[in-house]
Amino acid sequence: MSNYLPEDFIEEVRVANEITDVISEYLTLRPKGKNYFGLCPFHNEKTPSFSVDPEKQLYHCFGCGAGGNVFTFIMEQERLDFIDSVKLLAQRKGIPLPDSIESPQDEEAKKHKDKLYMLNRETALYYHENLLAPHGRHALEYLKSRGIDQRIIKTFGIGYAPKSWDSTKNYLIGKGFDTQLLTEAGLILEKNQREYDRFRDRIMFPIIDHRDRVVGFGGRVLGDSSPKYLNSPESSIFNKGSVLFGLNLARKRRPVDSFIIVEGYMDVITLHRFGIDNGVASLGTALTMEQARLMRRYTQNIYTAYDGDTAGQRATLRGLDILKSVGCNARVIVFPKGMDPDDVLVNHGVEYFNKLLHDAMSITDFKLDRLQAQYDLDDQEDKVEFTTRAVRILTDVENLLERDIYIQRLNNLTGFRPELLYRYVEQVENRGGRAGLKKNKIGNNRHTTPIRKARIHVAANIKAEMHLIRLMALDDGIAKRIIDRLGDLQFEDPIHVKVADIIKELLSRDVEINPAQVLNYVQDDQLRGKITEIFGMEMEYDNVDRYIDDCIGELRRSQLEKRRNHLMEQISRMDEVQEHNSEEYKVLVEELSAINRMTKLDPFGKEEVM
Ligand code: GTP
Ligand code: MN
Repeated sequence: MSNYLPEDFIEEVRVANEITDVISEYLTLRPKGKNYFGLCPFHNEKTPSFSVDPEKQLYHCFGCGAGGNVFTFIMEQERLDFIDSVKLLAQRKGIPLPDSIESPQDEEAKKHKDKLYMLNRETALYYHENLLAPHGRHALEYLKSRGIDQRIIKTFGIGYAPKSWDSTKNYLIGKGFDTQLLTEAGLILEKNQREYDRFRDRIMFPIIDHRDRVVGFGGRVLGDSSPKYLNSPESSIFNKGSVLFGLNLARKRRPVDSFIIVEGYMDVITLHRFGIDNGVASLGTALTMEQARLMRRYTQNIYTAYDGDTAGQRATLRGLDILKSVGCNARVIVFPKGMDPDDVLVNHGVEYFNKLLHDAMSITDFKLDRLQAQYDLDDQEDKVEFTTRAVRILTDVENLLERDIYIQRLNNLTGFRPELLYRYVEQVENRGGRAGLKKNKIGNNRHTTPIRKARIHVAANIKAEMHLIRLMALDDGIAKRIIDRLGDLQFEDPIHVKVADIIKELLSRDVEINPAQVLNYVQDDQLRGKITEIFGMEMEYDNVDRYIDDCIGELRRSQLEKRRNHLMEQISRMDEVQEHNSEEYKVLVEELSAINRMTKLDPFGKEEVM
């Protein structure tokens, strides 16, 4: 990520921008203990849970889990990427940028894109003026007939493309743009060596990206002829999968607490008209990962508001999975069949819409509802099939309390006992999770106890891992000592593995190590929040080396414990089939007793250890 800026420059900028100073420019901070506290700018709250640690130069919100260093704060607050946030903070302190940040080719391409943006902006203004001109009268009337007034026309920059083959072209050429650029932007088409305007006699909606640049247009016919919409073709500045219509407006409200994804231009506009200013639309295509990630930069809470018809429902399902995969908390607003948000608002008013919004369903509820609609639960066979498929849906619900709610619902619906449903979910989960590894089928308690226990021990070793990476991030010397002493012991938690990898990489490049520095390399903001939390943990120890040894000892013990459980599983499996005499059996038993001697564990795991 920091490929374009030298490491030491980035560090110079970071050190120059004291984090409490920078954050104080955005919110009021009050000292409390070693830290400072304020109202979190990233979520809505009334009591301060946003803390800034001047010693480590980190911030962390106990409410929403956001966290990071001065760069990530600026990234979130100013919606910039990493490089631009470094540049902004360099400017803040008057630190000159290193030469040749951008290569000459980048420079060329950037200039060309800027020209396209300029052209589009000029075109949008032209269309807008035409809407207000006498020959745009019928277009204005059409908009009025759909309830769109002057204010909305201005907010969205709505325009009208005149009913002419060349007036747009002529106007723009008169402004100094060449035909090649016009073609590239998709404003004109060529046929029989003659160029003519692509958009004629249409209402024009400028498509404006989240950085307020006009990247393309959507043009709607005034009546019912077809095609209803004509969009700009893709170009170097317009990629349908990476823009959301309306995001330029929706992202500006403070705080951005949610977005509503709708299907069309008119839905976004009508929402606005009724005072709902957080609607965005993907441009007549399925939601992409890129669009989902873009929204996720502003908020986690996303509502989908697609048509109530089957196509709309399919779009909803696909969209939901994409949203979930980028870490959004998605909910579905369910509309009456055949109605879109525009219809609902126009015909039933904003209160009804708000009720639907309030009743929005979770992904799981939506999936279960759809599934249920396909079955007759009074029929035994249907009931079994429905439950089987419902259980599969439940394996996606990670929060156990949430899962409990669904299991109760399923129990009400089908009459299958909750305990049975739990077992079923777990069974399906394990089958999916450990494909290939045949699970030990032994049901008696003597053997299952150690497995349960192992889960409890995970907590202790994960804690030890946390302490270790927290120490590693403190400075190079400690990091090196820990890596040395770990030898071939591996961390288990993927987050810890990731942090350790970053630190190793920094060490190999001889980059100074400190918590704030490490966070430069964590792009995912949820992950960053978790890591910041670990870095902020209080630790008490008299002697750091002894402390490190204790933690590593814990890891080693836990690893042995796992090996031991594995051996016991194998051994009891062989017991079942009477393989006591095989060579392999003996080897396993020997290893098991060696481990037991080392850790003084009871072979049947009845004793509480550690
Ligand atoms: P109204 O019919 O005026 O209410 O517009 P709408 O935005 O509700 O349109 P609709 O729900 O029919 O379609 C949703 C979105 O799909 C539109 O906003 C367009 O982005 C896209 N779309 C619809 N029809 C066409 C078409 O004929 N061509 C193209 N390229 N896109 C279309
Ligand atoms: Mn519509």
